[in-house]
Amino acid sequence: MKNRRLVLAARPGDLIKSSDLALQEVNIPDLQEGQFLIRVLYLSLAPVMKFYMLDGAGIEQPLQIGDLMRGRGVGEVIQSRHPDFQVGDIVQGKCGWQEYVVCDGSPYYMMYKVRQRSLPYSTALGVLGMTGFTSYFGLYEVGQLKKGDRVLVSAAAGGVGSNLGHLARIKGASAIGLASTDEKCNLLTEKLGYDGAINYLKEDVSERITHYFPEGIDVYFDNVGGEMLDQALLHLRRYARVVCCGRISQYQDLHSASYALQNWHKIGATRSRMEGFFIYDFEPHFPKAEADLAQWITEGKLQYQEDILEGLENMPIALNRLFERKNVGKQLVKIFLD
Ligand SMILES: NC(=O)c1ccc[n+]([C@@H]2O[C@H](COP(=O)([O-])OP(=O)(O)OC[C@H]3O[C@@H](n4cnc5c(N)ncnc54)[C@H](OP(=O)(O)O)[C@@H]3O)[C@@H](O)[C@H]2O)c1
Repeated sequence: MKNRRLVLAARPGDLIKSSDLALQEVNIPDLQEGQFLIRVLYLSLAPVMKFYMLDGAGIEQPLQIGDLMRGRGVGEVIQSRHPDFQVGDIVQGKCGWQEYVVCDGSPYYMMYKVRQRSLPYSTALGVLGMTGFTSYFGLYEVGQLKKGDRVLVSAAAGGVGSNLGHLARIKGASAIGLASTDEKCNLLTEKLGYDGAINYLKEDVSERITHYFPEGIDVYFDNVGGEMLDQALLHLRRYARVVCCGRISQYQDLHSASYALQNWHKIGATRSRMEGFFIYDFEPHFPKAEADLAQWITEGKLQYQEDILEGLENMPIALNRLFERKNVGKQLVKIFLD
C-alpha cells in the first residue's frame, strides 16, 4: 500500500504556493507490535499552521524543511497490532498532512477514540474537537461568562467564532459578531446564534458596537489581535474580560513589527483583565466539553458550521482560505473522495 503525504519544501511568503509543499508517495510499512494504521478521513486547518511553516516562535515547535506538515485529523483504524485500538475505531489526533498514519499511540499523537459516533465524523475536528473546545473553554473559563453579559467576538464566522453566538446564548448572554462580508453577517444572526453582526470592512465598527452595546462590553473574545483588539478595548465595561484566543491579523509576516496597541490604558481604567490561553492546557476537561457540546447539538441549541474542500492536494488552498477570509465556519479537507 502507498501513502501520499505533504512535506514542507519552502517557507511561504504572503500566501502559500503549491511549490512550498512537496507531495511524496511512500510505501506504508508493515505494522510492528504496538502499532496501528489509520486511514485519514478529514484533516483540520488552523491559522497557526502558517506560523509553523514560517519558522515562527510559538508554543509549538516550528517545522523544518522536509518535515511532514503538522495537523490534526480524524480517521478510521484499518489494521491494528495495538491492544487499545481495534479495526473500525474512529480516532482523532495529530495525523499530519497525509492519507495514512502508522501510529504507536504515544502521547505525541494525542490520539483519542471518537465517542460521538452518531454525528458526522468531521465534527470531531470542529465543534467536538479542538475548535469547539477552544470556543467552550475560552468563553466559559477564560472569559468567565455570566448571565446577562454582553459579548463581542472577532472572526465570528470562523471556526472558533462560529460556535460562540450559541454558547453565549446558552448561558443567557448576548453576542455580537464581527465579520468581513454581509453574507457572513447574515449567517451569524440567522443561523449561528448571534444577536447582531458588524461588517468590519464596510461599517464604522466603533459606532456599531455602541449601537448594540451602549453600556459597553463584558467579554471581548479576540481571534484576530491588532487594530480590532485596540478598538474593542475602548468599549470595555468595568471588570470586563478580554480573551486573547488568537491574532490572525498578525500571522502573515514575521518580519514586520506587531501592531502596537494604543488603548492599553482601558484595562486599568476599567479594572479589566486580558488573558491568553493554550487549549491543550484544558486537556483533562475535554470529555466534559465534548459531552456538553454534543448534547447541545442534539437538543438543537447549538448549530455548527463547516467549510469542506476535498483531496489532500487542496490542503494549501484550504489553509490560504483562512487568510483570504474565504472560509465560512470550520475549514476542513475531506481526504478520500466518495
Ligand atoms: N489559544 C488557543 O489555544 C487556540 C486554539 C485554536 C485556535 N486559536 C486561534 O483562534 C483563532 C480562530 O481560529 P480558527 O481556526 O477558528 O480560524 P478562523 O477564525 O476560521 O480564521 C479565519 C478567519 O479569520 C479572519 N481573518 C483572516 N485574516 C484576517 C485579518 N488579516 N484580519 C482580521 N481577520 C482576519 C477571517 O474572518 P472574516 O472574514 O470574518 O474577517 C477568516 O475567515 C485564530 O487566531 C487561532 O490562531 C487559538
